[in-house]
Amino acid sequence: MTVRPADPMALAEAGRLLRDGALVAFPTETVYGLGADATNGRAVAGIFAAKGRPHFNPLIVHVPDLAAAERIAHFTPVARHLAQAFWPGPLTLVVERHAEAGLSDLVSAGLSSIALRVPAHPVAQQLLAAAGRPLAAPSANRSGRVSPTRAAHVAEDLGDRVAMIIDGGATAHGLESTILDGRGEAVVLLRSGAVPREAIEAILGASLTRGPASDDVHPTAPGQLASHYAPNALLRLNARDVQPGEALLAFGSDVPDTAGPTLNLSAEGDLIEAAAALFAALRELDRPGVNAIAVMPIPEHGLGEAINDRLRRAAAPRP
Ligand code: TXA
Ligand code: MG
Repeated sequence: MTVRPADPMALAEAGRLLRDGALVAFPTETVYGLGADATNGRAVAGIFAAKGRPHFNPLIVHVPDLAAAERIAHFTPVARHLAQAFWPGPLTLVVERHAEAGLSDLVSAGLSSIALRVPAHPVAQQLLAAAGRPLAAPSANRSGRVSPTRAAHVAEDLGDRVAMIIDGGATAHGLESTILDGRGEAVVLLRSGAVPREAIEAILGASLTRGPASDDVHPTAPGQLASHYAPNALLRLNARDVQPGEALLAFGSDVPDTAGPTLNLSAEGDLIEAAAALFAALRELDRPGVNAIAVMPIPEHGLGEAINDRLRRAAAPRP
């Protein structure tokens, strides 16, 4: 790991590292972010591995401007109005992603929505330009620790797990962005943050309703958000064989015989590769004629813990 000042050489190198799938920590006006190419599933999986998160939660994707955001997702008139009022700046909008947006499924934890933000910090903007990709970036701290507002905090927490830390000094807000769900007619406050509620209500000319938070402070319980993206087919976990009518979600090289549809999360048994493939694989196997998906055992270490958490939620009894 190297902490580098935010000069043109470091930024060009950081852009290359990101395009190669590496992690780069960078300053935003709120807190330091742990950035990865949002179009690269392996790179996004690397974020969860570096943070040591026991579950996958949807991440915020950073883009240079509203035009780039509209290439990724659908903006309702009210969402566009909010974006025009507060971007660039510490506001994140949850919007419905386009099917062909080219982002990894893991970045939004398999949801059809996506959280987007246009950062105001000049270094964040320069990095987005250097990378030429949308950047997924949660706060650059280990899971369960407070968000970093200086490069030195990132080095303490994640120093051995990132390719580069760009030092842009102390962040201005020191508090994460405000998150709004802008999909419906009534805008919903999902996380309070650096843009105060009053400023948003002044722009809307209406009051905000408070929605269920799904952040890492309040992990989403099974049956809440999680149930919305369970596949239609039932899941049978820790399967060592395949029954008639079942598809197989395999892991590793020792795969049982089956004539049914099969996908392997990682023939090499690589948990990062498996995490990157997980949501797309569930979607792909959840097809007509498949009654259940038999899922081979996934080891419970590293990203395996988060993969198994997600699989257990998807396998939980449905209402
Ligand atoms: O200030 C910030 O927003 C910082 C800097 C680095 O930009 N980023 C940040 O990201 O705080 P993160 O990944 O820690 O926050 C992600 C949170 C999730 O925990 C969840 O609450 C919400 O954003 N979120 C993301 N995608 C969502 C979605 N599709 N639907 C609902 N909530 C979503
Ligand atoms: Mg965080």
